[in-house]
Amino acid sequence: MRDLTVPEQKEIWDRRNANEALRSLPPDPRVLSYIGDLPQQSRRALDIGCGNGRHLKQLAEIGWRATGIDWSNEALVQSRETLAGFEQTVNILSADYRKLNYGGNYFHVILAIDVIHHGKKRDLERAIAEIKRIKAISGTALISLPGIRNAPAEHQADFIDEQTVVLRSGLEVGIPHHFIKESDIGTLFRAFKNISADKVVLPMPAGMEPLHSMHENEWYWIKVSG
Ligand SMILES: C[S@@+](CC[C@H](N)C(=O)[O-])C[C@H]1O[C@@H](n2cnc3c(N)ncnc32)[C@H](O)[C@@H]1O
Repeated sequence: MRDLTVPEQKEIWDRRNANEALRSLPPDPRVLSYIGDLPQQSRRALDIGCGNGRHLKQLAEIGWRATGIDWSNEALVQSRETLAGFEQTVNILSADYRKLNYGGNYFHVILAIDVIHHGKKRDLERAIAEIKRIKAISGTALISLPGIRNAPAEHQADFIDEQTVVLRSGLEVGIPHHFIKESDIGTLFRAFKNISADKVVLPMPAGMEPLHSMHENEWYWIKVSG
């Protein structure tokens, strides 16, 4: 099985992001609660893989100078629509999460919600290293990653390794997905001084095409600082 090129992956994301149900996805309650606890002031935030802009808007509304990056043009168009009126304080740019063009110690808050497991393990590791590098020392990051119970059964997908799967069907067909075990969290995020993780098992997705045939809709919500 050959790896998809970057333009091929971007095309798949453009098509996936144009899906009607996903275009209008509302903010995640866990992100709303995290943003709700932030001070209302003009500090720098980054949303990695900002999708339709649902979380960028929450940051903009409390006065943060927010940047959203995504490598899908469709996501950038949607985010710009969602953030209409916030052009003075919000930047929406095309970038790859594996190499972010910012200096060190820059963002006070970083979000990576349902994004940086879309790749192989080394892509996830590169994203985490970038988050560590560009996060202000006093800042925090909130990251959501799917648990291994979220992976499809072996006969329904192509496994690259024990925890990485290329989907054979659905909106994200051909895109590798890396699924984590609870015991991976300490190692993956070892560069940070403080790590807290909550395991959440959500109801199976209803009303839209399941992305893949997971055993359980298991996610880890990881907060890091330092
Ligand atoms: C499942 S969506 C999540 C979007 C958003 N974070 C949210 O919570 O609604 C994943 C997003 O990551 C983007 N993406 C995937 N791989 C990427 C990469 N290597 N660099 C930048 N964006 C990427 C996709 O285009 C897509 O918009």
